[in-house]
Amino acid sequence: MHGKSLAAARLGWPNSLASLPDFHSLAYLPERAEAAILDDVRARLASGSVAAVFLEPLLGSRGGYMPSRAFAGQLAESCAAAGTVLILDEIFTGFHRTGPLFLHQDLGVTPDILLVGKSMGNGFPVSGVAVDRRFSIESKMLPGSTYAGNPLAAAAVVATLREMRALPMSDKVAAVETTIRNSLADLEDLGVALRGKGALWVLEFPRSVSMRDLMSRIIQDGVIPSQTANYIRLLPAATITPAHLAQACEVIRRACHAQLGAPAARPIAPIHN
Ligand SMILES: Cc1ncc(COP(=O)(O)O)c(C=O)c1O
Repeated sequence: MHGKSLAAARLGWPNSLASLPDFHSLAYLPERAEAAILDDVRARLASGSVAAVFLEPLLGSRGGYMPSRAFAGQLAESCAAAGTVLILDEIFTGFHRTGPLFLHQDLGVTPDILLVGKSMGNGFPVSGVAVDRRFSIESKMLPGSTYAGNPLAAAAVVATLREMRALPMSDKVAAVETTIRNSLADLEDLGVALRGKGALWVLEFPRSVSMRDLMSRIIQDGVIPSQTANYIRLLPAATITPAHLAQACEVIRRACHAQLGAPAARPIAPIHN
C-alpha cells in the first residue's frame, strides 16, 4: 500500500478506479515466492524503460509480510544494474516503528529515494521525500502545494525527532515486540496468524470470522485497534508501558478466544500507575 491518491493507489493494489498507463503492480508476498517476484521484476527491468521500483519493506496494510534480506539485496542490485531508481516506502515503517530508525537498515539496502511520514510527526499530518545526494534536485521537481513546507508540520517533526533522539527508541520498541509476542502467541492455536516487527503487528483472521462481532467485543472492553478486512493492526506508541500494552493485548486475546475458541482462562490484571 502506497497511499490512496490516484497514482499511489494504482501502485498499491488492483483497483478499477485507478487505471494509469505505465504503472505495473506486480504480484508480491504472499501470493508469490521471492524468487518468482525477482524473476518478474528482472524481466520488466530488462526492457530498459522502468524509471522506478517501489517497495514497502513490511506490508503494514496487507498481512504484515516482510521480504528477506536476500530478496531486498538482490532487488537493489537488479535496480542498480538496470539504472532504475529504488524507492522505499517507509511511511509506515520509518522512524523506529519496527525498531531500527528505518527498516531498510535491517534489510541491508540503501534506497535511492525514501518516502517518510506518519511517526515522524507523532500524529501531526506530515510526509517527506528524501533523495540520495547522487541525484540533483531541480526546482520544477518541487512544485508548491497547499501544505508543502508547512512551518507547523516542520516544528512538529523537529520536536518529535528531538524526543526520539532523547529516548532509547530501539529498546522501547523491542519491549513492545516482546509484550505483543508473549501476550498473543497462543492465538495461532485458533488459526490466527500474527506477523510483524517492533511496534507494527498484524493479526490475520480466517475469512470465516465475523470481524464486526470481534471488533465489537474488543471495543466494548475498551480497546480500539485498527481493523481492515480480516486484519487487525496493533500500532502502539513506543512509550506505552508494558503493563498497559499487556492489558490491551489481553482484551484482544480474550475476545478472540470467546469468538473463535474456548474461553480464555488468564485473568486481566488491573493496571496501577
Ligand atoms: C506504506 C504507506 N505508504 C503511504 C501511505 C500514505 O497514504 P495516504 O496518505 O494516502 O493515507 C500509507 C498510509 O497508510 C502507508 O501505509
